[in-house]
Amino acid sequence: VILIKSLNAPLYEAVRKYASANPVPFHMPGHKLGRGFPKDVGREMLSLDVTEIPGMDNLHAPEGVIREAQELAAKAFCAEKTYFLVNGSSGGIHAIVMALCKPGDKLIVARDCHKSVIGAMILAGVEPVYVMPEFIDDFAITGTVDALNLTRAIELNPDAVGVLITRPNYYGICSDIESIARTVHAHGMILMVDEAHGAHLCFSDCLPKSAMEAGADICVQSAHKTLPAITQGAYLHVKSGKVDIERLEFFLDLLQTTSPSYIIMSMLDVARCIMAEKGTGLLNNLLNGINSLATLIDGYTGIRLLKEKDVSGGSLDRTRIVINLKEFGRTGYETEAILRNDYNIQVEMSDFYNIVCIATIADGAAELEYLGKSLADLNASYSTKQPLPDKYVRKMQLPIQAMELKDAKNVKYIKLPLNKASGRISRNIITPYPPGIPLVCPGEIIMEEIVEYIYNIIKLGGKVNGLSDDMEVFVID
Ligand SMILES: Cc1ncc(COP(=O)(O)O)c(C=O)c1O
Repeated sequence: VILIKSLNAPLYEAVRKYASANPVPFHMPGHKLGRGFPKDVGREMLSLDVTEIPGMDNLHAPEGVIREAQELAAKAFCAEKTYFLVNGSSGGIHAIVMALCKPGDKLIVARDCHKSVIGAMILAGVEPVYVMPEFIDDFAITGTVDALNLTRAIELNPDAVGVLITRPNYYGICSDIESIARTVHAHGMILMVDEAHGAHLCFSDCLPKSAMEAGADICVQSAHKTLPAITQGAYLHVKSGKVDIERLEFFLDLLQTTSPSYIIMSMLDVARCIMAEKGTGLLNNLLNGINSLATLIDGYTGIRLLKEKDVSGGSLDRTRIVINLKEFGRTGYETEAILRNDYNIQVEMSDFYNIVCIATIADGAAELEYLGKSLADLNASYSTKQPLPDKYVRKMQLPIQAMELKDAKNVKYIKLPLNKASGRISRNIITPYPPGIPLVCPGEIIMEEIVEYIYNIIKLGGKVNGLSDDMEVFVID
């Protein structure tokens, strides 16, 4: 028998230690440390880790139980066809872009996209046409994609294959997808939606409509983010004759492992079942709890909840709790650490001015009440009463593209210290993580304002991907 204590397994130990401290987790995965699963599902988890033995079907050519589970999912999520993904929405986004675009094709992309969209366009050899989303000054975050801006991009690029938007964004902000779908389809293009954060939307009328309900042709959803499913579990949904299914299946087969985890796939099945049978009631209970929390927060001076009235031309997923700290006087990074250390609450992410909590059906009234009480206490005990300066974030310009995205990966590059990188062409995707929205993409010029922004993030406690350990930047030689 191997004694756990004798194992040198630092990752396992760190995860166990975190879980055994019994934290209040306002972060993904949406099952919240197993609390959202029926008890016996958690216990039997490891015994579900099987392979393609008789009766277990095959993800790459499903004709048995996987096919049945995918068909049930398609029905529950209002799609015509659903595929289980075992490498998150990232893998699905790669497959969508590779299936729908050929090398040299143009794709119109809202720039607040996740790095996997950039990765997909590199893999597919696509030429991106970016549309900048709105900027919400008070929160210093990106907002909706304006249908008029999008129409302009479509009219200027009638040869583009389609449009890819992120909806909801990390802050729960939902662009007006119905009018976007009408515009995109009127021009004969395909609407692809990164709905990684919106797998729960179609189960409550009190939430914005899902992409499949609102007219999108194809989308991905990270079940693991907002449903009781485990990390990496995601769905790809199709609802359109415009998608070449055989080409899509070809790329899904190419890009996904030949040993898909039956634990992940079984949990995708369970998540669908829970949501289809009980999702509406559970979400409406959750939204009632969030309404009470919102009333409490409204009474606190210093911290402010993101509300639908802050979002122009769109709607808000209210299960995403975004709290602005500008008047409170401490950055999101600092506040996240205080909540973790003093209140045993772990939020999903923070930025300069905000913290973001993900609430799912696995959260009960007790967790929301505890969050409300802790915020009251935090507000009373830690406010500096000095508003945060405006200087950390402002609306940024789209970087100049000096080299095509698809070409930048193959040219010679060097590493330069960040303070010498201004004006050079980036070879990497540079992105604060979370949320994973790129500041600079391969082939783009690293502007001085971006260098300054990266320094600020790191100085104030955030993390940036795409640099070397010594804060060097990969630039084209
Ligand atoms: C908007 C968005 N899209 C896609 C992804 C990738 O999802 P996954 O982690 O399931 O691969 C993320 C991950 O955070 C995301 O925020």
